[in-house]
Amino acid sequence: MQDQLNALKLEVEQAVAAAKDAAELENIEIRYLGRKGELTGLLKGLAGVSAEDRPKIGALANQIKVQCEGLIAAKRSGLEDAALSNLAETEREDVTEPGVRPPEGHLHLMTKAINEITETFEKIGFVRTRYPEVDWDYYAFESLNMPPDHPARDEWETFFMDAPVSEMGKMVLTPHTSNSQVRELERGEFPVRMINIAKCYRRQSDATHVPMFHQFEGLYVDKNVSITHLRGVLDYFAKSFFGADRKTRLRPFHFRFTEPSFEIDISCGVCGGSGIGADKQKCKICKRGWLELGGAGMVHPNVLKAAKVDPKKYSGFAFGWGVERTYLMKEGMQIDDLRALYKNDLRFLKQF
Ligand code: DAH
Repeated sequence: MQDQLNALKLEVEQAVAAAKDAAELENIEIRYLGRKGELTGLLKGLAGVSAEDRPKIGALANQIKVQCEGLIAAKRSGLEDAALSNLAETEREDVTEPGVRPPEGHLHLMTKAINEITETFEKIGFVRTRYPEVDWDYYAFESLNMPPDHPARDEWETFFMDAPVSEMGKMVLTPHTSNSQVRELERGEFPVRMINIAKCYRRQSDATHVPMFHQFEGLYVDKNVSITHLRGVLDYFAKSFFGADRKTRLRPFHFRFTEPSFEIDISCGVCGGSGIGADKQKCKICKRGWLELGGAGMVHPNVLKAAKVDPKKYSGFAFGWGVERTYLMKEGMQIDDLRALYKNDLRFLKQF
C-alpha cells in the first residue's frame, strides 16, 4: 500500500508538471484527490492493513494528500502569473508608434469659392445675405421690370414649381440671384451693401452649363451712387480675387433691371490682355485679351419703385456673376466638362 501511495504521488507530480492550464489542473485534482478520486479509492484498502501498520500508512496517505494539494496550488498560481505576464506582452501598446491617420476630406471647390468671394466683399463692407432659392415670379422677374409674358424672360430657362399660384405669381426655382434685389431693398435699411450667393436653376445641361449652379449678386444702394462707384468695386474685386495686374472693362449691354447695363470683362491672366499667346498665336484661353465675367449696371428706377424706394433720393448699382465660371477663370483651370463638379466623383474632386 505504501508503494501504491508513493506511485500515486509520482503520477500526480508528473501530471501537474505537464498541466498547461487551470482546467487541466482541476481535472487532475478531481481525478486523484476528489471525493471519488484515486486516493480515496486507495484508502478503502486501509481496512486490510494490519492494525499495527495502519497509523503509519494513514499518516503517509495524509502527508501525500497535503503534498499533492500543495503541488497543485503552486502550479495554479504559477499558471496565473504566467497568464498575467503574457497579457502584458500580448496587449502591450507602443504609445510612441505613429498613429494611423483617419481619412481626411476637404471642402468642395465651390464651397471654397463661395467662402473666398464672401471674404473679399466683406472687406469693403458688403454683407452676405440669404434669400429663398424657391421664390415667387414677382421677385424673380416682375419686380425686376419684367412684366408677365415679357420676351426678356426667355433668356432664363426657368423651372416652374407645380404649386398653387398667389398674387405674386407662380413659384420658380430661382433662375438667378437677382430675386434678392427687391427683397433686400424692401428691408428699407440704407446704405444697402449686399452680397447674395445662392443656387440658381435653369433648364440647361451641357459641357459648359449645369442645371444647378451658383451666382453671386452684389447690390449697393445709397444716396449719390454713380458708375464710378461700380467701377471702383469691380476693380477692387478683380485685383484682390484674380491678381494685382488684372483690369476690368465695361461693355454696353441690355438688362431690364439696370439702366445703363454692362457686361463686365476682365483682362486675361494668361496673355496679359494682349490676346496673343506665348507662341505668338491667338491666346488659347481668351482669344481676344478679355474674359467675360457677367452682368452689371445701375439699378433701374422701376426696381427701386417696386421696393418703395424713391429713385429721386436713392441710386445704386448691381452685378450678378456665376460662381463656377468666375472661380475657374481665377485658377486658369480648363475643366472640359463643368458637370464634373457635381458628379461627386472623388477622383475628380480630390485634385483640388
Ligand atoms: N441676373 C443676371 C443673369 O442671371 C445677371 C445680372 C445682370 C445681375 C445685371 C445683375 C445685373 O445684378 O445688374 O444673367
